[in-house]
Amino acid sequence: MSMLWEKGLPLDAAIHRFTVGDDPGLDQRLLCFDALGSAAHARMLAHVRLLAPQDAQALVDLLADISARARQGEIVISAAQEDSHTAIEMLLTARLGEAGKRIHLGRSRNDQVILALRLYMRTALLDIGSQAAELAQGFLAVARRHAADIMPGYTHLRPAMPSSFGLWAGAFAAGLTEELQALQAVYARLDRCPLGAAAGFGVPLPLDREYTAKLLGFAAVQVNPVDVMNSRGRHELALVNGLASLGLVLEKFLWDVALYSMPEFGFVSLPDAFTTGSSIMPQKRNPDVVELARGRCRELRGHAAMLQQLAAGLPSNYHRDLQLLKAPLFEALDLARDLLDVLIRLVPALRINAERARAACGDDLYAAHEACRLAQSGTPFRDAYKEVARQIQAGSFKPDRAALSATHLGGAGHPGFDLMAGELKAAEQWLAGTRAHLEGCEENVWHKRSGGE
Ligand code: ARG
Repeated sequence: MSMLWEKGLPLDAAIHRFTVGDDPGLDQRLLCFDALGSAAHARMLAHVRLLAPQDAQALVDLLADISARARQGEIVISAAQEDSHTAIEMLLTARLGEAGKRIHLGRSRNDQVILALRLYMRTALLDIGSQAAELAQGFLAVARRHAADIMPGYTHLRPAMPSSFGLWAGAFAAGLTEELQALQAVYARLDRCPLGAAAGFGVPLPLDREYTAKLLGFAAVQVNPVDVMNSRGRHELALVNGLASLGLVLEKFLWDVALYSMPEFGFVSLPDAFTTGSSIMPQKRNPDVVELARGRCRELRGHAAMLQQLAAGLPSNYHRDLQLLKAPLFEALDLARDLLDVLIRLVPALRINAERARAACGDDLYAAHEACRLAQSGTPFRDAYKEVARQIQAGSFKPDRAALSATHLGGAGHPGFDLMAGELKAAEQWLAGTRAHLEGCEENVWHKRSGGE
């Protein structure tokens, strides 16, 4: 077995190991995307008459088989093969001979890897987006169920104004929906086909880049080949920054749960399945799941920081440093999937102790509400504020709680859940529509006969 680029010069085993790094293992997950991209490339070559139709068909059929076997974990990239690109070309050449040796015409591993990564990231984004949408629905269900259950709202970790479990849980549904909308913008960046950039400068061949882009379901061609190379890293960073931002939403929820489930608060409690015990203190049930999930949100920011370092500090065009982007990208995606998976199960299981929260809402919590009420009946707000402060100091403050509900849009009395649900639904429809589009395109790459082109 030999490298694609080998020309009979001596190779040092340790140096080879260093340059290959973790690529054989990391590239396992790119195999089926690399096969799909290669099939589209073969079809395009046939379309512009750089490849015989029967060769293209044989390549596509074998690539479909490779893709299916790769999904079953039946193809293992060896260290000698370096990467998924070499493994695939070797399989094609071993089985098809000449036709296999023709597939790399008009491309380089530089644009090939960017394409495989882009196809992979597109799918990963949709998967994670669907999980985020499911979790947002979970939060929205809790919010609707407990819309009328009041709880203290805190600023500076000090009681501030009355809030509700509806507002609290609804905030995470809204935050996740915002992050989903931001992920749609990331998808738009990924939605341009890099293939045809080759090593970064195009090739002297009549490639039809728009044809490949359309086959693979991209909205457009990423036209400038130098930009194709220069965008490697920025796209990874945009996606993982999106996940880190999603983590910021989740981290606040997790922190709140750790806090509000303390015996001193007791506003929420975790089912036993989500807690663990102590080896020494028999009475303990610890919120380890919540704490680990919280730590994972910080890890996501760590992966984003790593990608930022790796993407920066390079001049234009391809450099091997770019290979190192794969590990933090894949780790961040795996981590986000795990994190969302656990939260999708935790949120509906969370027990809301409405009575404890109601009991924690003391009269002082209504001070600003009372000042608003006085102001509404004509007193200038500043005077009303002072009057309430005076009553509190004198120990005579007795707010009329029933009359004090925030009824404007977004307040505890009018939380606007239907508006939020509408936005979430729009994001879900985008996810489903985009997924269906990609599946249709993939079907077409594998099964369209290339003979008549
Ligand atoms: N494993 C390489 C990467 O991820 C593939 C491209 C190799 N290209 C090259 N010019 N050495 O970047």
